[in-house]
Parts: sequence; structure tokens; C-alpha cells
Amino acid sequence: MISKIKLGVNIDHVATIRNARGGMHPDPVKAALIAQNTGADNITAHLREDRRHISDIDIKKLMQKLRIPLNLEMAPTKEMLNIALNLNLKRICLVPEKRKEITTEGGLDVKKNKKKLGIFLKKLFKKNIQVSLFINPNVNQINAAKDLKVSAIELNTGLFCEKNENRTLEYEKLKSAALFAKNNNLECHAGHGITYKTVSLISKIHEISELNIGHFIIGESIFLGLKESIFRMRKLINNSRKKIILDKLA
Ligand code: PXP
Repeated sequence: MISKIKLGVNIDHVATIRNARGGMHPDPVKAALIAQNTGADNITAHLREDRRHISDIDIKKLMQKLRIPLNLEMAPTKEMLNIALNLNLKRICLVPEKRKEITTEGGLDVKKNKKKLGIFLKKLFKKNIQVSLFINPNVNQINAAKDLKVSAIELNTGLFCEKNENRTLEYEKLKSAALFAKNNNLECHAGHGITYKTVSLISKIHEISELNIGHFIIGESIFLGLKESIFRMRKLINNSRKKIILDKLA
């Protein structure tokens, strides 16, 4: 059965603008509540080691105020593990993190770091925290994620969304990785770099059940307002999914 795609709105860059002046405005929690009221299925935020956007206080406020799930992205470090365990989080997406990167660059190397991740995950599973692993669309990484018994993976759509001559190949990689994940009983999410131009093709991959989108939605909200920016993304996703369902029926 082809299901509706959930939309996770990443609010990191509301905090980026706030932090540029060191004050309280604009408030990422207010943005999260608007997203919730506009039909977002979850809110995503990345607590970075350097706290360049979202802060610890933002996370606490989000947990108090949201009705929809908070999907917290974090690197698999000791500090983040303690935060996850102490805050009683329900959902986490583990991502690689380099201090000097502008944004998350590529997926986790789950295969190479399997042992270390296994120890990390054991502690999260004990607290019933659902974990997804942000990975590149690669069968070996999906197999390693499956061995670690996570419930979901998030496919990195960054290389497909960037303008480059290998886009067709990158799209094929996403399609076959999503199918492989589904056949291995892993929930398949996707995200990174998604725009109004790229979201329809990604939504056509019917094994993908959730998209996490931030930078473009927040950027576009400067021109359209946050509600309209989210609404247009939602509409493109829904139209693309509806079309697959109709194609299947035809
Ligand atoms: N998913 C993951 C795992 C990410 O690290 C990010 C960026 O924080 C996103 C989705 C959202 O990417 P973007 O801001 O490019 O939409």
C-alpha cells in the first residue's frame, strides 16, 4: 500500500537568524508551532556540538510545547547520548558532524562504525527511543543499519538535490536504496537540500514515508510567509503521491 508522506519541518535556520544578533528573535519555537498548525507531521532540529543554531533551551521548550513528535538530529557523541537519555526524547536521527562543515556533509558510515554505534544504540533502545540513521543511499550502509536493529533510515538526498551532471544516477540510487530498505523492513525517510523543484520526484519514490526539509522552507518563508511556504511544499508532496496512486489504479 502507498501511504501519505509525512513532512518534518526543520527549524534550525530560524535559530540561525536569531543567533546572528544574539537575541530572542525570531523564535524557533514559534516557528515550530506555526509548522504544527500548518500540518507538519513532526518538527526536526539539529543540536550541534557548537550550538550554532538550536540551543539546549530551545529543545526543552519544544518538548514542552509541541503536540507532534520532535525528531532531534544529533551526532553519536558522549555529550549527545547523555542529553538524549536525560531529556526522555522519543525520536532521534543520528547524523555525522564535522565542526567546520556548513551543513551535514554526507551520511554516517554505519558499516565502518558499526561496533561504536551498536554500543550507543543499546543505551537509546533501553529508553525506548526510536532511532533513524542518516545514510547515503547505499546497500552496504542499509545492511549495516538493519544489523543494528534501528527502525528507520533517512536517505541523504543532498547529492540528488544539488545541481550536478550525475543527478539521474543519484535519483536511481535513491530509488533502489528505498526499495531495499523497505524489503528489509526498515522505515525509509529522506532529507537534505530538498526544494520545490526536487520534492515531486523524491515523493514519487513510494517506499519513502517521511521527508525532513528545512533550509528551503525557511528561506522561502522570507518571500511567502512560513505558513504558505510549508503549505506549498505539502501540496507538491501530496500531488505527487496522489499521482502515483492514480497511476497504479489505471
Ligand atoms: N535531514 C538531515 C539528517 C539533516 O541533517 C538536515 C539538515 O540539518 C535535513 C534533513 C534538512 O536539510 P535541509 O535544511 O537542506 O532541508
